[in-house]
Amino acid sequence: MSAPSSAIESVLVENRVFPPSEATQKAARVAGMAAYEALCAEAEKDYEAYWARLARENVVWSKPFTQILDESNAPFYRWFADGELNASANCLDKHMGTAVEHKTAIIFEADDGQVTKVSYRELLNRVAQFANGLKAQGIKKGDRVLIYMPMTIEGVVAMQACARIGATHSVVFGGFSAKAVQERIVDVGASAVITANYQMRGGKELPLKAIVDDALQMGGCEHVGHVFVFERTATATHMVAGRDMTFAQLLDGQSTDCPPVAVDAEHPLFILYTSGSTGKPKGVQHSTGGYMLWAKQTVEWTFDMQPTDVFWCTADIGWITGHTYVAYGPLAAGATQIVFEGVPTFPHAGRFWQMIERHGCTVFYTAPTAIRSLIKAAETDEKVHPKNWNLSSLRILGSVGEPINPEAWMWYYRNVGGERCPIVDTFWQTENGGHMITPLPGATPLVPGSCTLPLPGITAAIVDETGNDLPNGAGGMLVVKRPWPSMIRNIWGDPERFKKSYFPEELGGKTYLAGDGAVRSEDRGYFRITGRIDDVLNVSGHRMGTMEIESALVSKTDLVAEAAVVGRPDDMTGEAICAFVVLKRPMPTDPEEAKALATELRNWVAKEIGPIAKPKDIRFGENLPKTRSGKIMRRLLRSIAKGEAITQDTSTLENPAILDQLSKTN
Ligand code: PRX
Repeated sequence: MSAPSSAIESVLVENRVFPPSEATQKAARVAGMAAYEALCAEAEKDYEAYWARLARENVVWSKPFTQILDESNAPFYRWFADGELNASANCLDKHMGTAVEHKTAIIFEADDGQVTKVSYRELLNRVAQFANGLKAQGIKKGDRVLIYMPMTIEGVVAMQACARIGATHSVVFGGFSAKAVQERIVDVGASAVITANYQMRGGKELPLKAIVDDALQMGGCEHVGHVFVFERTATATHMVAGRDMTFAQLLDGQSTDCPPVAVDAEHPLFILYTSGSTGKPKGVQHSTGGYMLWAKQTVEWTFDMQPTDVFWCTADIGWITGHTYVAYGPLAAGATQIVFEGVPTFPHAGRFWQMIERHGCTVFYTAPTAIRSLIKAAETDEKVHPKNWNLSSLRILGSVGEPINPEAWMWYYRNVGGERCPIVDTFWQTENGGHMITPLPGATPLVPGSCTLPLPGITAAIVDETGNDLPNGAGGMLVVKRPWPSMIRNIWGDPERFKKSYFPEELGGKTYLAGDGAVRSEDRGYFRITGRIDDVLNVSGHRMGTMEIESALVSKTDLVAEAAVVGRPDDMTGEAICAFVVLKRPMPTDPEEAKALATELRNWVAKEIGPIAKPKDIRFGENLPKTRSGKIMRRLLRSIAKGEAITQDTSTLENPAILDQLSKTN
């Protein structure tokens, strides 16, 4: 746990306030601040009774729970532990026989613009058939299945089918490398992999199956008995006899009737890997009952989901946002949602606006990095400005993944929302399962750049290093004081790391440490997230551990002796990765040679982790700034990366001259 640095002191004062319109407030599920406060008061008065009420209202239990919160083995909290349910039944079966049965569940728009729609009934049939296929291949409750799929209806079907038979899925983002896939297969102990031959993004056909093949050849994957391949394109792909099977073969002759398997509330619905400050990615283990409760409830509260809404969350199913707000939450809420295969800039940077108009999207949820890149595109090319499309169907906008700067917020509010749509700036993390701190569209007065207030029952607070509450205006560490139902249950296979990472002894061992710095405003007590306080970078809303990138760099053993990675602010991606590298050979003096080496290293990192981890800057030096005890002084590297003059105390440095050298090289 690192102490908050002065960098997280509040420097930004934002005076603009946007209360909800009377009409929005009146029609909302949580209508007005008084309604929000009443929910908060209910949670405060009897915490367990509040959560039990929500669990009964939001989840269909095949066996009702009698226990609520079990804290006996803290911080391994258990919720509704004696209850049983099935997540897929909570998304699909429960709608059968209701008005939702024949409603459109998913409007899928492919990369090339082709549209396919499925109703809830059709989706259930497809999920059930897929689940029967998995069962026929011996996949059963408790097995782990790795999913490496493009954004498609089939991706959602694969997740739901695993849930239906009680298999725990672990989805890996389609942009990750073979090495990253292999590490996750090994760590999670997958018995099967579900993938596609190719994925289509931006008009390009990218191999997925070939990457899975590479991963499986790297060793340690002997437990993978099956690879199921969705034929997204007509291009042939290599198939291994006895192991690989196309979806067509898997589904052949399977019935569309598959009773959902009831699991305990605490049964792991999924394990999703995310970066931590040290070592390899963490397998964040989520529950079934508590997770489903919050997935549905937050869709209804934060997005005020109404029966006629057309929801669009642009996140990939490879991230937590794509789990909670594509694969589970909207379906549990019976919403119609858009699933998009492609990228926001293909065939032009107006694609999002065009799709909103085309499908009559009402609630749009995306990331600040996408907004910032579309602002830039609209500023350079009038033709892709949102004003060229009719966006009047929109009623609520959302933002997630990183702090949204007030300028981008205002642009989004004016040009996309027509100064009519509230923006919900939702703060949460992979470990949280669902929204934690966010405005409610029909209640909370909005302040650009602030995620405002915790949802009812979420005991978020800001504390110093010893856990003392800090007053409004003082920057500190973001914590959550009490367990909540959709929280992380464990790090897969590493309970010690779970305790150390999230419930440090310094804070008493029971307080959840988010790893972010935050500050509350003096006037309203609104939260503003100031960024990570550990060695985790947030690049375009994606979490990257500095250690992970450093290990990837030094694994290029013929070239790299030592590497240190830090973040620096970037207009477009929020943070950019900056790597300082000491080579095993003399430092390049010729700029062309330096450029070539930097490209080689960038490509190496892309191969080791994935293109999203490529350092933007690579600086070569003969050494790194170290203390006499050999510790790399990262705060100095951060200043150099930002191009700042070094004003900090450097008297403990072993080799002060190195600062000069690193500042000059590029
Ligand atoms: O630093 C915070 C930032 O994203 C981190 C969580 O990343 P991940 O687990 O990948 O989940 C992202 C999507 C839920 C947080 O620790 N973050 C996320 N949302 C916000 C944010 N920072 C500021 N404002 C947000 N709304």
